[in-house]
Amino acid sequence: MRTTKILYVILIPLILSLLSCTHDPEDTADPIPPDPDPGSCDSTLVTYSGIVVPILQANCFSCHTGQTPSGGLDLSNYDQLAFVAQNGSLLGSIRHEDGYSPMPQDLPKLSDCDIALIAKWVSDTTFTDPGGGGGGGGGGDQECDPDTVYFQNEILPLLISSCGVIGCHDPGTAEDGVILTDYASIMQTADVRPGDPEGSDLFEAITDDDPEDRMPPLPRQPLTAVQIAKIEKWIQQGAQNNLCETTDCDTLNVTYSGQIFPLIQNSCLGCHSGASPSGGLLLTNHSQIAEASANGRLMGAIRHETGYSPMPKNGAQLNDCTITQFEKWIENGTPNN
Ligand code: HEC
Ligand code: HEC
Repeated sequence: MRTTKILYVILIPLILSLLSCTHDPEDTADPIPPDPDPGSCDSTLVTYSGIVVPILQANCFSCHTGQTPSGGLDLSNYDQLAFVAQNGSLLGSIRHEDGYSPMPQDLPKLSDCDIALIAKWVSDTTFTDPGGGGGGGGGGDQECDPDTVYFQNEILPLLISSCGVIGCHDPGTAEDGVILTDYASIMQTADVRPGDPEGSDLFEAITDDDPEDRMPPLPRQPLTAVQIAKIEKWIQQGAQNNLCETTDCDTLNVTYSGQIFPLIQNSCLGCHSGASPSGGLLLTNHSQIAEASANGRLMGAIRHETGYSPMPKNGAQLNDCTITQFEKWIENGTPNN
C-alpha cells in the first residue's frame, strides 16, 4: 500500500537518527528541540512537551503567559490550553477561520507544518475535563481519590522544594536548561513522557544509580522511596496537571507523624534542611518544627501574615484544611505523636 511505503520513508531515517544518538544528559542542555527539517513535516511523533510547547513558546507565550495574559488565556497552563483545544478556538484561531480571532495576533500565520502538528496533537489527545465548561475561572478541582497522585497537591510542592530552588532549577538559574517550578516547564524541560516513567528524564534523574549523577545532587538528601514512588505513579497515571480538594477535613485526629511531618517533608524540607537551610531555619525533626511553631513564625509564614515571608516560598499557599490541621496540632501543644 502507498501509505505504508510513505511510512517507511519517514520511519527509517527517523530510526537511524535515533540510533546514532546515544543518550548523554550533558548534551540535552537545550530544552527546545531544533525545528524539524524545513520542507519535511514529520508528524509521526507529536508530543505535548516535545512539539506543542516549543511551537507555542516561540509564537504565543509572549502574549499568552504571565499575570495578565492576552484574552485571559494562559497557554502555558495545560488546562487552559486543553480548554481552547476542545472548544475549537485553538485550531480556529491558528487556521484563521471565520468567527475566530486570527493568531498569532498581528504576526504572520504559523507554517503549514506547525498547524498540522498542533491539529494532530489535538486529534490524538484525550483531554480530561478542564473544569466543567461553566464558562471559566478556577475549575478543575476534583475530590481526592486515594489511588490518584495529584500534581498540584503533591508533585509540584515537592519539586519546588527539592529542585526548583535558587541556584538549581528555578527559572533564573535553569541548570541544564531544566526548570522545575511550574507544570509546563516540568513537562517540557524535564522531558516528562506521560505513561512512561522510565523514558522520562525527570524520573531517570531522581533514580540514577550513580550518586554523583542522581538528583537532587549531594550534599542534598536524595528523595525518599515514597516520594520517588509518587512521582513514578503520577507519570504512569498520565502526568496530568490535576488538583484535588478534600471535602472532609479531619481536624480531630491530627498527629505529627500522620499529617504534620509528611507535609513538611513534601513541601518544605528541600529548602529547610542541609548544611545551609533557607532562612537559617531547619525543619528536619520534631523539636525544630515545634520550636518554629511555638515562636509563631511557622503559622505567620504559612498563613501569609504580614511581617512574615510567605511559605512555601515560590509555591501556592497550603490549602485551608492543612493550615487548620497545623493550628490544631499547635493548640494541642505540638505533640510528637
Ligand atoms: C501579539 C500578542 C498575541 C500573540 C503573539 C498571540 N495572541 Fe492569541 N490573543 C491575543 C489577544 C489580544 C487575544 C484576545 C483578543 C482577541 O480575541 O482578539 C487573543 C486571543 C486568543 C484566542 C481566543 C480566540 C478566539 O477567537 O476565541 C486563542 C485561542 C489564541 N489567542 C491563541 C493563540 C495562539 C495559539 C497563539 C500562537 C500561535 C497566539 N494566540 C498568539 C494576542 C496574541
Ligand atoms: C523554595 C524554598 C523554600 C520552601 C519550599 C520553603 N521555604 Fe521557608 N523559607 C525559605 C527562605 C529563603 C526563607 C528566608 C526568608 C525569605 O527569603 O523569604 C524562609 C523562611 C521561612 C520561615 C521564617 C519566616 C519569617 O518571616 O520569619 C519559616 C517559618 C518558613 N520558612 C517555613 C516554611 C514552611 C513551613 C515551608 C513549607 C510549608 C517552607 N518554609 C517552604 C525558603 C523556602
